[in-house]
Amino acid sequence: MTQSATFPDEMLGRIHQGDCIAGMQSIPDGTVDLVFADPPFNIGYDYDKYDDSLSEENYLSWSADWIGQVHRILKPNGTFWLAIGDEYAAELKIEAKKLGFTTRNWVVWYYTFGVHCKTKFTRSHAHLFYFVKNAKDFTFNRDAIAVPSARQLVYNDKRSNPKGRTPDDTWILRPQDCDGFSDSEDTWYFPRVAGTFKERAGFHGCQMPEQLLGRIIRGCSDEGQVVLDPFSGSSTTLTVAKKLGRNFVGFELSEDYVKLGTERIENATVGEALRGAPEPKVSAPATTTKPARSGKANTPRAKRSRANESQSTLDLK
Ligand SMILES: C[S@@+](CC[C@H](N)C(=O)[O-])C[C@H]1O[C@@H](n2cnc3c(N)ncnc32)[C@H](O)[C@@H]1O
Repeated sequence: MTQSATFPDEMLGRIHQGDCIAGMQSIPDGTVDLVFADPPFNIGYDYDKYDDSLSEENYLSWSADWIGQVHRILKPNGTFWLAIGDEYAAELKIEAKKLGFTTRNWVVWYYTFGVHCKTKFTRSHAHLFYFVKNAKDFTFNRDAIAVPSARQLVYNDKRSNPKGRTPDDTWILRPQDCDGFSDSEDTWYFPRVAGTFKERAGFHGCQMPEQLLGRIIRGCSDEGQVVLDPFSGSSTTLTVAKKLGRNFVGFELSEDYVKLGTERIENATVGEALRGAPEPKVSAPATTTKPARSGKANTPRAKRSRANESQSTLDLK
């Protein structure tokens, strides 16, 4: 009888500095439960180490390489979430399909606090693809991510399911700002982690909201399973995975992001509440009077990243 491979313990619990393709190549086939990837969007964003302006051909071929590795390392019942901008959403969805993934949802994350654009409409959404390897065998913990239904909130209807309902595939993190979306649809609303939010780690312009990762990790993995992020950035995925009692592993090119992301993970504890508004309908995100800066990120690269962020974060990303 052949024994199935297990994830190498020595790799768990940290961000590995270096290229994610090389990093994933050292992981045995079929050993990861959940991958969340928020890759560079190839829109000229000024990262610390990575050049975000590849030719289209090179970007697509690089994307096929890393998505291929994700497919290889996922368990047969594993899940892959991909965050991507308008520019390459269609291309990467097709690529993922070619590599063997089935799409469960094409979630739209609608956010407020996008950086104002002067010559086009201000960017206020990103695409979140929910892919699985096996269309019939995957983890979906519906009760862990249920939201209050309109029957519960508005109509006080006795027939309502007390556990709430499954979120829509448009995610809205501050629905009080937007009457048009309800929590039970597929447009997701979470505010972008703006510079003044207490949640802001302060060294990375593309920090994702903890509550958004919370929904993905709670819904698509179980405690003790392995969650991997090939593009760790400010380490949101790994920090949330740790808080939720998952095993975690990440890759990141930049030494600075690895150092500061590691501090963020170390400062988090298992069971700790996620940052940001847990129920956006009834609570706004906490803000500081001054932009939240860690004070530790005063390296030239971190300063450049902040300048980049204040000028153009979601204009670009
Ligand atoms: C969009 S950011 C990720 C942000 C992250 N989701 C967060 O919440 O902070 C993409 C990150 O990928 C990193 N990166 C780019 N190419 C990489 C590669 N080949 N291997 C590992 N990391 C890479 C960049 O340095 C950048 O920090």
